Amino acid sequence: MGYKVVVAGATGNVGREMLNILAERQFPADEVVALASRRSLGTEVSYGDKTLKTKDIEGFDFTGYDIALFAIGSDATKIYAPIAASQGCVVIDNSSLYRYDPEIPLIVPEVNPDAIEDYRNKMIIANPNCSTAQMVVALKPLHDRARIKRVVVSTYQSVSGAGKEGIDELWDQTKGMYVPGQEVAPKKFQKQIAFNVIPQIDVFLDSGDTKEEWKMAAETKKIMDTSIKVTATCVRVPVFVGHSESINVEFEDFLDEDEARDILREAPGVLVVDKREPGGYVTPVECVGDFATFVSRIRQDVTVENGLNLWCVSDNLRKGAALNTVQIAELLGNRVLKKG
Ligand SMILES: NC(=O)c1ccc[n+]([C@@H]2O[C@H](COP(=O)([O-])OP(=O)(O)OC[C@H]3O[C@@H](n4cnc5c(N)ncnc54)[C@H](OP(=O)(O)O)[C@@H]3O)[C@@H](O)[C@H]2O)c1
Repeated sequence: MGYKVVVAGATGNVGREMLNILAERQFPADEVVALASRRSLGTEVSYGDKTLKTKDIEGFDFTGYDIALFAIGSDATKIYAPIAASQGCVVIDNSSLYRYDPEIPLIVPEVNPDAIEDYRNKMIIANPNCSTAQMVVALKPLHDRARIKRVVVSTYQSVSGAGKEGIDELWDQTKGMYVPGQEVAPKKFQKQIAFNVIPQIDVFLDSGDTKEEWKMAAETKKIMDTSIKVTATCVRVPVFVGHSESINVEFEDFLDEDEARDILREAPGVLVVDKREPGGYVTPVECVGDFATFVSRIRQDVTVENGLNLWCVSDNLRKGAALNTVQIAELLGNRVLKKG
């Protein structure tokens, strides 16, 4: 007997990818139901070679469903996740609502799989921010070898990280640049995103950091090690899918760049593409649709005692959201629920 699975937010960027990945990875589901808001009632979404008709989440009875994969934003999650949990269905949530709740596990299966046991606290498991997920996959094996003290990261984040509206705004604004009278003013983003970059993701905090930058630091501590210091600058770039990160790491112990490359070649979820020649690295367009977190440009930072630089690229809708969510569901199934 397999699982009864709910995908909430099935009409969104992340929801559609969750359905694709459940099918691609042959998740042992007996039944998959697609939910979204009433606006999408009856909208057809693909699940492998099947087509599902989307149902309204309002009034949906989660009783008898094992796992609900949520990608509906914090406001709607606040309403529906407690309902699903109280009806005995384990929620794996993509929003930021529960990530910093000490009772709720925040999981990247390659990094902290043992945290899965804490799902029992509230029947809810949180999925991290997209930029955090790929970074910790790349950093964990290096931390295990040489203990990371400090991370300085600059991100180059695609517009799909801002949902369907983000993708539409880049597309429409780009087209509008060439058609007089059809210019599109910024709405989803703070400034023009076509042919531009914007050093703001999420709101500003009193510290001067943005919330996205704060999230990268707080989530890395919760998932990997509270002693790691992270300072981030998060930037939106005119790329549809795929987040890139320039990561500078300072370790307690010396770690040679060749050893780091060898460690990363063996690391789960990581693919090293690192040739010191033109094009010998991965760019976001090449990572789209892939499961891996790609690491390139691994090199010593000789300006500090034990430093390394690396370039990290991943499909934000996959490892940054949908893939990680399905991997958590697999972990929950294999370690705890044991059906299928
Ligand atoms: N995109 C990423 O890289 C990424 C990464 C990590 C986490 N996340 C998180 O994942 C969530 C979804 O992101 P997304 O990029 O998929 O957004 P999206 O493309 O804008 O899709 C939003 C989805 O949520 C549904 N929804 C919105 N309000 C709802 C409500 N009141 N009741 C029921 N369903 C509702 C929408 O349904 P309708 O179509 O009916 O409106 C749609 O299915 C967000 O919390 C986001 O922060 C996204």
